[in-house]
Amino acid sequence: MEPTVDLPDPAVVEEILRARGCPWPRPHVVTTTGSTNADALESLKSGADTGLCVVAGEQTAGRGRRGRSWVSDPGAGLWSSTVVRDYPQPARLPLLASLAVVDAARQIGGPVVHVKWPNDVLADDGRKLAGILVEAAAREPGVGSTAGSAAVVGIGINVDHGEKSLPAPGATSWRIAHSIVPDRSTLLAELLVALNNRLTTEWSQSLADYRRWCRTLGMGVEIDLPGGNRIEGRALDVDDEGHLIVDDGESPRTIVAGDVVHATIRT
Ligand code: BTN
Repeated sequence: MEPTVDLPDPAVVEEILRARGCPWPRPHVVTTTGSTNADALESLKSGADTGLCVVAGEQTAGRGRRGRSWVSDPGAGLWSSTVVRDYPQPARLPLLASLAVVDAARQIGGPVVHVKWPNDVLADDGRKLAGILVEAAAREPGVGSTAGSAAVVGIGINVDHGEKSLPAPGATSWRIAHSIVPDRSTLLAELLVALNNRLTTEWSQSLADYRRWCRTLGMGVEIDLPGGNRIEGRALDVDDEGHLIVDDGESPRTIVAGDVVHATIRT
């Protein structure tokens, strides 16, 4: 017999969304799929609007950042992707999504979590509890501004792993970090409420909150850059664009994208 997989209840999620003043629709919940990001991107073709969320109990081809795969075992996590249309600064979406996870964890009294730039969500012990992959939809020919732009915000939260079933070195789960496994409907609903709030909050406020929760700031870092180079330095700040400012010993450098592979406290 197939093991039962704990899934959010779409009706309960919708009820919480209404009660919390979030106008987004009832999520689309499936037991298994390839990738919820792929499904949400597909739903854009049939006109899905901001807030349409696809959630799966299992992903067989979960996508991670920089072409990596994302292990999404049945029932082990909350694997969700949400459509966002016409957000004026799409480059900010990954940072806002990571803040939404922080907000949701705080709202439901979950584990203390932080952000590792740009958008990994870490438990208090520094291990990764959630990952975010924002993917833009292909632009329609002739559309040059952000009007008509669309993206999906994919959020993978490790929920119910034990130490022996963690998906990757350096990973952890909600259960390990907090002992309690959250109700999936509540977790999803609060995640969506938080994401909607972050999309409508002034960026200056979210940037201030991001700086507060970003554990990378002030640390000595090694960063793998997309071209294959690695830089070392001290993380000074996150600028108005969401880029990381790193002092490499000679001058402040602006890092647009990269993987922080190591961060240590430097005084
Ligand atoms: C990362 O590499 O840290 C990003 C991981 C993003 C995983 C989530 S799970 C839901 C959504 N669907 C996917 O295929 N990926 C994202």
